[in-house]
Amino acid sequence: MEEGKKICVAGDHAGFELKGAITEYLQKKGYEVHDCGALEYDRDDDYPVFAFDLAKKVSSGEIPRGVLFCGTGVGASIAANRKKGVRAALCFTPEMGTLSRAHNDSNVLVLGSRTTSLETAKAILDAWLAGPFEGGRHEKRVKMLDA
Ligand code: RB5
Repeated sequence: MEEGKKICVAGDHAGFELKGAITEYLQKKGYEVHDCGALEYDRDDDYPVFAFDLAKKVSSGEIPRGVLFCGTGVGASIAANRKKGVRAALCFTPEMGTLSRAHNDSNVLVLGSRTTSLETAKAILDAWLAGPFEGGRHEKRVKMLDA
């Protein structure tokens, strides 16, 4: 499996259903998907647990990128961005997906199940997966994040 086709997913109970649907979508596109949980629905589970597991994999370089889910996407993105080297982008439109790659070199896409329909989530994901980092003037800014 080429490195670019490895991806991890994670989410709490609120993101559980969307995570499942997006996992299937990624697999159909030929991605090897590593699921960092939740592996079963439990309404008392906590988004930081799963966001940290996924963020550690991306931060260490074990898996180059990931898709994260919670109800709004806010909690999961706050948690993931605490890990060095993680640039988690909460996106609501395909344009945000494209620009978070082009300008921020985002390595984690965050989607909110209560804010984003499955169709929109797929469109955001497609844009995010396809979008190259522009580099150039954005390179310096991205480097500043971890300096
Ligand atoms: C869980 O109810 C919800 O608070 C969580 O999924 C997320 O939206 C937090 O930001």
